[in-house]
Amino acid sequence: MNSKAVLKVGILGLGTVGTGVAKILLETKGRHALLNRLQIERVGVRSLKPRSVDLPNTLYTTDLDSIVTDPNIDIIVEVIGGLEPARSLILKAIENGKHIVSANKAVISRYGEEIYAAANAKSVYVMIEAAVGGGIPVIAPLKQALSVNRIQAVMGIINGTTNYILTRMQNEGGDFAAILTDAQALGYAEADPTADVDGLDAADKISILAALAFGGRIRREDIYCEGIRNVSAADISYAEKLGFVIKLLAIAKLPEQIPKENKINSLPSQIQARVHPTLVPINHPLASVNGVNNAVLIEGEPIGQIMLYGPGAGEGPTASAVVADLIAIAANPSRQNDPNPLLTCSHTYSLDIVPSAEVVTRLYVRLLVKDTPGVIGKLGTCFGQYDVSLESIVQIGIQNGLVELVVVTHEVSEGSFQQALDEIRQFPEVTDIPSLLHVL
Ligand code: HSE
Repeated sequence: MNSKAVLKVGILGLGTVGTGVAKILLETKGRHALLNRLQIERVGVRSLKPRSVDLPNTLYTTDLDSIVTDPNIDIIVEVIGGLEPARSLILKAIENGKHIVSANKAVISRYGEEIYAAANAKSVYVMIEAAVGGGIPVIAPLKQALSVNRIQAVMGIINGTTNYILTRMQNEGGDFAAILTDAQALGYAEADPTADVDGLDAADKISILAALAFGGRIRREDIYCEGIRNVSAADISYAEKLGFVIKLLAIAKLPEQIPKENKINSLPSQIQARVHPTLVPINHPLASVNGVNNAVLIEGEPIGQIMLYGPGAGEGPTASAVVADLIAIAANPSRQNDPNPLLTCSHTYSLDIVPSAEVVTRLYVRLLVKDTPGVIGKLGTCFGQYDVSLESIVQIGIQNGLVELVVVTHEVSEGSFQQALDEIRQFPEVTDIPSLLHVL
């Protein structure tokens, strides 16, 4: 490929993101000069209906296979989403020697190993800036500017839908179900909200960030994943009284015990990786990330802590990330067996994920107990027997002879905490344990 040649782009999907990509490629004035070396050659759509972008009708086709096999095309932009046919089209495009730019976190987090092995064998790039954090540049920084650091943690709010719902629950005191229904009516949540509200989308994204931060493949199925369906207005209100807001956090970090180095490149062999609703201290930088915005906080040595913040979805932001990848490819046309190592992915081993029971964390638990003398002491003694150190026990209210208690622990082993809770559940004074949440 001649480094000054025009690169021909095939776009798979002309939904929100595909439309944004086409608009940037058609309106290059005032943007980077490399955009003039990119030309839309074909656009794959589900149906041939009138579109809002100004492209000749002859560019459209419903035959997506014909795009990924087209010898004139250099780069495929995959923005159809979902697992299939996206995975098969990506693999066929690579087989035909094309670079890939994809926003598809579900495919990359599950089939990254297969896709990158195929891409490395063909010396083509697979670029995924748009897969995490929408318009926020986070993939390129992890691969390039931050890669000289020893990363200790990457965590954040990386699902806009759940952050929108939790922000409204916080501001309005409303319940999850009613706000979800309203968010769907307003277009902030999908008709099928499962991937977002059950934390699956955030788990896909944190597996991608963790792989880049810690230098090994992540088995997506090993990531502990808990969504926001069970977050109640009551917990949001109690958390606020204790100085916290509740956020859906995706967390990947080194375990407290410094893990053994793997034998291949002296990077860690084991990390924590999890997604769950979390009580975040009100003065923490992630606490003020509201609405559909995303933020990723990265801690490394020697850089310290940085936070990347911005719009996590939407036509313009996500298209900005896709087209940034396109110009990175235009600036680095691969030479056979000599691709730019700052753009490729060549992980050679898998990182182990610390089992949940071994995670050391702070926890919040809400209990309903009978208002009998000595019950708080009994709870404290039981936690103590399992080495669970408590930061606070607060009596929140009393109704019909039942007392509502909220317990916040210091850093404890999650396994020990669960053992204590199993015993506490059997106490005759304990009538219910409605919630258990992590605390940052
Ligand atoms: N569904 C995602 C979110 C947007 O709510 O953040 C695309 O990643």
